[in-house]
Amino acid sequence: MTRFVAGVIAALTIFSGLVSASRELIDDSVLRLPSDSSRFFQAEDGDDSAGTRWAVLIAGSSGYWNYRHQADVCHAYQLLKKGGLKDENIIVFMYDDIAYNEENPRQGIIINSPQGGDVYEGVPKDYTGEEVNVTNFFAALLGNKTAIKGGSGKVVDSGPNDHIFVYYTDHGGPGVLGMPTNPFIYANDLIDILKKKHASGAYKSLVFYLEACESGSIFQGLLPEGLNIYATTASNAEESSWGTYCPGENPSPPPEYETCLGDLYSVAWMEDSAKHNLRTENLHQQYELVKARTANANSGYGSHVMQFGDIKLSRDNLYLYMGTDPANDNFTFVNENSLMQPMKVVNQRDADLVHFWDKFRKAPEGSARKMEARKQVMEAMSHRMHVDNSIKLIGKLLFGIEKGQNVLDAVKPAGQPLVDDWSCLKTLVRTFETHCGSLSQYGMKHMRSIANICNAGIRQDQMAEASAQACPNFPTSPWSSIHRGFSA
Ligand SMILES: *[C@@H]1O[C@H](CO)[C@@H](O)[C@H](O)[C@H]1NC(C)=O
Ligand SMILES: *[C@@H]1O[C@H](CO)[C@@H](O)[C@H](O)[C@H]1NC(C)=O
Ligand SMILES: *[C@@H]1O[C@H](CO)[C@@H](O)[C@H](O)[C@H]1NC(C)=O
Repeated sequence: MTRFVAGVIAALTIFSGLVSASRELIDDSVLRLPSDSSRFFQAEDGDDSAGTRWAVLIAGSSGYWNYRHQADVCHAYQLLKKGGLKDENIIVFMYDDIAYNEENPRQGIIINSPQGGDVYEGVPKDYTGEEVNVTNFFAALLGNKTAIKGGSGKVVDSGPNDHIFVYYTDHGGPGVLGMPTNPFIYANDLIDILKKKHASGAYKSLVFYLEACESGSIFQGLLPEGLNIYATTASNAEESSWGTYCPGENPSPPPEYETCLGDLYSVAWMEDSAKHNLRTENLHQQYELVKARTANANSGYGSHVMQFGDIKLSRDNLYLYMGTDPANDNFTFVNENSLMQPMKVVNQRDADLVHFWDKFRKAPEGSARKMEARKQVMEAMSHRMHVDNSIKLIGKLLFGIEKGQNVLDAVKPAGQPLVDDWSCLKTLVRTFETHCGSLSQYGMKHMRSIANICNAGIRQDQMAEASAQACPNFPTSPWSSIHRGFSA
């Protein structure tokens, strides 16, 4: 009981922190290109009519408390479909446990904003359930049909004139992106795949939109120029990204929803793309607009959108990657941030607690549902405490009481990748999980600590000894279970 009270107090502290911050978004003046730019791009559109537009859309999570990631991906599909992309060129990865989840108040329907319509209908189920994993994602991106296991078998079978758009949304951590089925995506592996795709000459240019916590760490110091890749990320290498349209916030979802409907960076780009003639808006204009909206007036409840790779590609019109909805032909780009309502948001990592808490709060007194929600809050909180405390203790065991925390928290200078030796990082993640249980989506935040342990030259046997001391018993929480395998 005391533990539960402690948990609820901790949860309440988080919540009171969330319910502040509402200021008008500052109208960050958008850099505009010369007025003749649209004619210039019109010409380029013509040149590119030979190429095909491809898209890979991935929601990296499962679970109703992560509703928003699959909602984002479904919305992105609808946008591209209206833009004129063909189903054969859009590859969707989603676990597909939301639309018919027993918690979903509108069965068979997924929405991505409070007043939004259904975005689930018609979404191709290329890779669902366990098929949503790193092997299949990489194989699909590379266009390697023989490496695909299960699913529709659809891959990016692209040629040298084609344009590829990749959109990923989920939890992440320094150097990693989540997947509903372990292991995680490690940044170095993703970059290797992109280099391979480039080397195979199978695209003209590739745009990568990435929403996750610490998503800047995926490209920072890792994505070279010259691959014809332009990437933007929801956050820099050291901060959370944010869920939005969350219960109890403003704007909030319809009252029957006990979960966040979208993510701040994701809805920013999609709500922008959905209403303009994308022949007249370029990637740079969208980057500026999304950056301003995602910063959320620098309230501390927002993140810094970053760009990486071949920045010059951002002069391309969105049309080249997303097509355009003919219904928007008369709506050219204007910077509408000044008209935008401020968004209340929830830290990506606390959105599961928001779900369990809202469920607990609304369930009738004495009901089985209330008991269940209480248990879920407790389990999530105790897993968090366990992971935080184990990592902290391992730091002290390895580097001493004084220095431990400083070593774990150290941040490499801007422009440098997180870790020198990625295979060390993976080995130490497995070593930790062997003794202390799964990091899970919350524990991803400690990737920087584990990377720093590698950077300090700690060997696997030393890590094993420290982990065994920190975690004398394997934790019983379902969040710690490694029945889904190691995250590395
Ligand atoms: C990915 O999914 C396929 C199909 O379910 C499976 O055969 C394969 O082992 C999975 N790979 C990983 C890394 O989980
Ligand atoms: C495709 O994947 C298979 C199986 O993993 C591998 O043997 C083959 O080399 C890959 N082909 C290419 C072109 O990368
Ligand atoms: C755009 O405006 C023109 C001229 O006013 C009109 O003829 C056309 O129907 C409009 N297109 C759309 C999609 O609304």
